[in-house]
Amino acid sequence: GYDHYMLKEIHEQPTALRQTISGRIDEMQAEVDLEIDLPAEYLNSLEEVQFVACGTSYHAGMYAAQLIEEHADVRASAEVASEYEFTGGRDPWRTLVVAVTQSGETADTLSTLRRAKRAGARTLAVTNTLGSTVTREADDSVFIRAGPEIGVAATKTFCSQVATLALLSVYVGRQRETFSSAEARELLSDLRGLPGAVQQVLDQEKQVRSTAEEYGDGDAFFFIGRRLGAPVAFEGALKLKEISYDHAEAFAAGELK
Ligand code: F6R
Repeated sequence: GYDHYMLKEIHEQPTALRQTISGRIDEMQAEVDLEIDLPAEYLNSLEEVQFVACGTSYHAGMYAAQLIEEHADVRASAEVASEYEFTGGRDPWRTLVVAVTQSGETADTLSTLRRAKRAGARTLAVTNTLGSTVTREADDSVFIRAGPEIGVAATKTFCSQVATLALLSVYVGRQRETFSSAEARELLSDLRGLPGAVQQVLDQEKQVRSTAEEYGDGDAFFFIGRRLGAPVAFEGALKLKEISYDHAEAFAAGELK
C-alpha cells in the first residue's frame, strides 16, 4: 500500500509505539515493568550509565542519557561504539553499559559490549530483534517491539527506542527513589498519549510534502535543537543525508553561529 518500505514504516510509528508500551506501564502505581532483573541494590550503587551504539541508535542513546541523568540522578553518557574504550578510572561494578541496537548484530556495538563485559561491567541490550547476538551476549535484554524494519534508514525503531529508554529512565529513577510517583505518572501518561500525537503529525503529510518540495533544491540543510531537541536534530540530519545524499548537519542550537 506504500511506494516504499520507509514510507510504510514511518506510518507504522503509532502502532510500533503502542506495542512498545503495551503492558509495561502501571500509571496508578507509577511503575514500569520491563521484565529485567536489575536489583534496587545494584541500581542504588550505580555511579554511571553508558549508552553505546552507532548511527540512529547512538542518537537514541544521546536522548536517553539526558533522561537518565534527570530522572535517576546518575551520570550518563552516549558513546559512539566504534570509538569506545572502557577507560577513565571507572568502577566496572558501578557502571551499567547499555548497548542500543535495532538489529542486535552491529559489529562495533557487539565489540564494545564484549570490552565492557571483559572489564567487569554489567550489560543491558536494548534491541528490536529476538534471538540476535546482542541478546545472547548481554546480561539482560529489553525489546523495543517495533516490528520488523525493512527500510535501510531507521524510522519507527528510533521512536520505539526512545520510548523504551524513557521507560528505562522511569524504572531506574523509581528504584533509586530519585523520581517521584507524581513525576512518573505524568511522564507515563504522556507516553500513553504519544501514539496519538504521532498520528496527528502523520495526518499532516500533505503539508510536509509541500514543505519538502519548497526546500528540496536547497544546497545544505542545518538541523538545530536544544537539550532533548539536539539528538532529534542529529537524527533528522542523518535521515536527510542518508536518503538524499544532500549535505545536512546538526548543531546544538547554541553552536549554530
Ligand atoms: C540509520 C541507520 C544506521 C543504523 C546503525 C546502527 O538510519 O540505519 O545508522 O542506525 O547502523 O544499527 P543498529 O541499530 O542495528 O545497531
